[in-house]
Amino acid sequence: MSRIAVYAGSFDPPTHGHEDVIKRASDLFPRVHVAIGHNASKQPMFTLDERLNMLKDLTLPLPNVSVVWFEGLLAHYCRSLDGAVIVRGLRATMDFEYEMQIAHANAVMGVESIFLPTKAAQSFISSSLVKELARNGGEIAPYCDLKVVTTVMAKIKGIRI
Ligand code: COA
Repeated sequence: MSRIAVYAGSFDPPTHGHEDVIKRASDLFPRVHVAIGHNASKQPMFTLDERLNMLKDLTLPLPNVSVVWFEGLLAHYCRSLDGAVIVRGLRATMDFEYEMQIAHANAVMGVESIFLPTKAAQSFISSSLVKELARNGGEIAPYCDLKVVTTVMAKIKGIRI
């Protein structure tokens, strides 16, 4: 069966951790949708267009990867793709309980989840950490692609790029 893998997140902004999961999913699946969703508990720093553009730049070398956005439930988006599975990166044990809960709810809605263990070096990165560092003059280049670094710094300084 030809499977689409859906890798969803807020990607506010995307980090090397996200890039790693996207690359590995693109090696495992014939098609990958990197899907920007809305996390009801978060207020994003970047607009949807800014996140779409950052992700499109990052995934340019991967021809089987598309960047999309969706509204509502991730499971409903996956079901609209006929046979899509959810790919999630598991960073550390702290992710496990939350991920199991979401995976269970999505399975009840008919969508399976597949977990990729995040590489050790990226296990403690998060988009919030990157934003916090950037806001306070910290170095974010170790955690993000150069174009993402430029976009984040421009946002912090209020410059349009
Ligand atoms: N490496 C490094 N960091 C990673 C990572 C990885 N492989 N994977 C995730 N992260 C980080 C993210 O940057 C994020 O950081 P932040 O909390 O500082 O923003 C954090 O880990 C949590 O990631 P995630 O759990 O993927 O949350 P998210 O906010 O990025 O995305 C959605 C959440 C959009 C996928 C989710 O809210 C969703 O599906 N929404 C639609 C509604 C829905 O279906 N809800 C579920 C009901 S069952």
